[in-house]
Amino acid sequence: MKRIFSGIQPTGGVTLGNYLGAIRNWAALQQEDYECIYCMVDLHAVTMWQDPATLADSTREVGAALIASGIDPKKSIVFNQSQVAAHSQLAWVFNCVARVGWMNRMTQFKDKAGKNRENASLGLYAYPALMAADILIYKATHVPVGEDQRQHLELTRDIAQKFNNDFKVDFFPITEPLIFGAATRVMSLRNGENKMSKSDPSDMSRINLTDTADEIAQKIRKAKTDPEPLPDAGVDPEEGRRERPEAFNLLNIYAALEGSDAADVQTAWAGKSFSEFKSALADLMVAKLEPISTEMRRLMDNKDEIDRILADGSERARALADPIMQDINDIVGFLR
Ligand code: TYM
Repeated sequence: MKRIFSGIQPTGGVTLGNYLGAIRNWAALQQEDYECIYCMVDLHAVTMWQDPATLADSTREVGAALIASGIDPKKSIVFNQSQVAAHSQLAWVFNCVARVGWMNRMTQFKDKAGKNRENASLGLYAYPALMAADILIYKATHVPVGEDQRQHLELTRDIAQKFNNDFKVDFFPITEPLIFGAATRVMSLRNGENKMSKSDPSDMSRINLTDTADEIAQKIRKAKTDPEPLPDAGVDPEEGRRERPEAFNLLNIYAALEGSDAADVQTAWAGKSFSEFKSALADLMVAKLEPISTEMRRLMDNKDEIDRILADGSERARALADPIMQDINDIVGFLR
């Protein structure tokens, strides 16, 4: 039996990057012999300032996005992190296992803290230890994520290993990242060097799952490209991404949405104009995303339904996490 865990921050909606890089794979992993646990990580969200008036609704919105994308809350556990206290308890233990030097190497902290590191929250710095706790409190074996989370998952393995060594136990599994699909790294529509992100100040840089058909068409039409036509079939995609990141990003998104091979899409569109390609891409995107946004809106109009689903998920998550936390307390030597 494989146990899958993954998380998403409930901050400012859900992007096409989240969907293609993660959520779509989460839905696909719901199979007979996989037990799937999917979490809205509200504790991670507050490592940066969140307005209390909107955090709960953002959490519901991300929950709605998961369900609308095909995650079945009866099969999978869907819940929000703050409701399962064991995440925070284990995170503290991991704060004492992980080394300051390990945290100093985390590129996401450097990116998010920016120039003013002294003023970043302590939580933002310790973020990867909480993430390791999210996964290991369930002894999850596999974690489906986008490429940007790879470094955090390597740290999770280091923390598991050090805990096992320090306490001379074989307790935590060494978790495997699952990074797959055509779009493990969806880039910004305004700058092909940056990943598509909810925190980019420009909304034109990303597609949100809640965007209307008109907004999608406009964002794709205005997406940055270069003056050349689409690349020839023979151009190596690795090299292409380096030289023409925006062009290859759009090709990749097309392939991921269509569920086809990136090389086939490149061949089909070789030498054609961007205006023609962009209009086909916008149509494809609207066709794939519209059913999801419609279902999201329906769920958001029924907040009680989402709240019930998340409460049920939290209860099932606690039932798995609490006994594991008891074992950890015993291993560490905390008196019961
Ligand atoms: P978050 O909320 O930034 O993103 C959620 C998931 O979406 C993926 N993703 C992308 N994939 C491809 N292209 C993009 N542009 C893109 N943007 C985001 C992310 O890789 C991720 O899989 N730290 C995590 C949340 C987390 C977590 C965990 C994940 C907390 N605890 C435990 C896994 C296991 C984060 O901030 O993801």
